[in-house]
Amino acid sequence: MIRPGVIILREGTDTSQGKPQLVSNINACQAVADTIRTTLGPCGMDKLVFDGRKVTISNDGATIMKLLDIAHPAAKTLVDISMSQDDEVGDGTTSVVLLASEILKEMKPFVEEGVHPQVLSKYIRLSNELLLKKIEELSIPIASSANGNGQLQQDMLIKCASTALNSKLLSGHQDLFSPMVVKAVQYLHECDALEDISNLISIKKIPGGDVRKSFMLQGGIAFKKTFSYAGFEQMSKKFTDPKILILNVELELKSERENAEVRISSPEEYQSIVDAEWDIIYEKLSNCVKVGANIVLSKLPIGDLATQYFADRGLFCAGRVDDKDMRMICKATGAMIQTTTSELEENVLGTCGTFEEKQVGDERFNVFLDCPRKLTTTIVLRGGSEQFIAESERSIHDSLQIVKRALQSQKIVAGGGAIEMELSKFLKEKALDIKGKGQFVLSSFAKALEIVPRQLADNAGFDSTDVLSLLRTKHNAVDGGSLWYGVDIINGGICNTYDLGVWEPSNNKSNSVSAASEAACVILSIDETVRNPKSQDPGAATGMLPGSGAPGGKPMSGMMQNAMDVAQGGGGRTGNLGPGVSYMKGRGG
Ligand SMILES: Nc1ncnc2c1ncn2[C@@H]1O[C@H](COP(=O)(O)OP(=O)(O)OP(=O)(O)O)[C@@H](O)[C@H]1O
Ligand SMILES: [Mg+2]
Repeated sequence: MIRPGVIILREGTDTSQGKPQLVSNINACQAVADTIRTTLGPCGMDKLVFDGRKVTISNDGATIMKLLDIAHPAAKTLVDISMSQDDEVGDGTTSVVLLASEILKEMKPFVEEGVHPQVLSKYIRLSNELLLKKIEELSIPIASSANGNGQLQQDMLIKCASTALNSKLLSGHQDLFSPMVVKAVQYLHECDALEDISNLISIKKIPGGDVRKSFMLQGGIAFKKTFSYAGFEQMSKKFTDPKILILNVELELKSERENAEVRISSPEEYQSIVDAEWDIIYEKLSNCVKVGANIVLSKLPIGDLATQYFADRGLFCAGRVDDKDMRMICKATGAMIQTTTSELEENVLGTCGTFEEKQVGDERFNVFLDCPRKLTTTIVLRGGSEQFIAESERSIHDSLQIVKRALQSQKIVAGGGAIEMELSKFLKEKALDIKGKGQFVLSSFAKALEIVPRQLADNAGFDSTDVLSLLRTKHNAVDGGSLWYGVDIINGGICNTYDLGVWEPSNNKSNSVSAASEAACVILSIDETVRNPKSQDPGAATGMLPGSGAPGGKPMSGMMQNAMDVAQGGGGRTGNLGPGVSYMKGRGG
């Protein structure tokens, strides 16, 4: 009897299905997690990713995952969860990828033994629900400024910001950056504008100089001097209480004859066209001056005629200002963007305490200080190299988001693996209440949670088995007083991370657990991959499908090729049954 095992699909189409497909997906996810495993925690290492053009040095899980250019279709899910964690919480991307892959690793034996993936998913979701409740129960409220505990709240937030910075390049400069970050975010919180954090806090990078020369302008904005034309040198570059006009208009002498065909019969007519062009621009410029503006900014170019005109009348102008900077200036100074210069009124002008063009490092900056609406903050980062500053910016982004989350949830948990150990203990106990396969799934999930303290210890060069057994003993102690014991990064062994001030917002942890569980369920629910080749390029897909082993396809980075090799451990068979028919079948599919 012929056993077909053939799926009739277009030539070049590959499918892989069944248990081996699941196992191969799990292997791929593990391989991806292996690449970022060593970056976790204060002693985590950084990764240098070179994409052929640009070098990026980073410790941030989301950034590394984004740059890895992961080709495996299932492993891409991990990239997506790290991205969503980055958008949603900002920090904790490494932890979430590690946790997801560890859950999958724990589930692999069950898959191999033939437990149906839906059963696994069901119990993973149950574990997730139980854990979210437990995190809520365990979390500790942060002091509220409403009860006159403003200073206390600030201290607690500084600890959260510091925990996020601990693992980053800036860890040695927490004393400078944590209070900065907290002050900026707290202000937004008071003004009820937390959600708009990415529009209201801007980070400017100036290479060169010491990192400790970084500073913050609260209620101020700074942006790099834009391209300037002749006449710029004669402008006044310092104002007190200036009136600011913001335009989305081009202030340049336009040659209209280049845009239209004009038939003329005498030189006078030609002159009249040229005069009209000059009249148009002069009218625009005089409108700006008439309304009483001292500073004119435009998203579009401001040419040399306009620059000279404004300089002669004691105004300052800058064209081609970045969109985000423009929006921030509007928010801070109360100015309204104008799309025309006719009929300008005084109420569209904004104002600020002082304006100055200043030298910062090698760059000239336009700085607006003491803006009436103190919502906006600019953090100016300094540092030796471009890569350093880029990584500093990512770290500041992480800690800004963490402070935001802490203010939103008003609750924190202790990090350093303490919360994970406590959750693991809780889930192990809960598992005993469940009969059947669920018990094993819950216990395995509980074991997977231990990956965080284990990896923190490993990365710090400690014996993780010792540390973990000490932690288990502490957390299982009957007195219940050792709830917050986690990895002691400084001295080795274990310590109370709550007392040490390693704090994380509780909703950060809930998010990680949910995202990791969801990712695990998604990967477990895929039992077949079908890859259609592009019509023009029938060989394109075959090289990349796990198990196909065929050449071709997009070249992969070495790191990812390794990931794919590991993934291919699941095995499968491929072949060609003449034109139009190809098959690929997993061993158990
Ligand atoms: N001083 C400390 N002692 C022990 N653990 C710490 C300390 N500071 C931070 N941690 C722990 O380090 C982990 C965070 O590490 P890291 O910042 O590298 O990864 P992440 O936050 O998961 O991802 P990413 O920051 O890349 O988005 C958390 O579990 C946190 O509790
Ligand atoms: Mg972090």
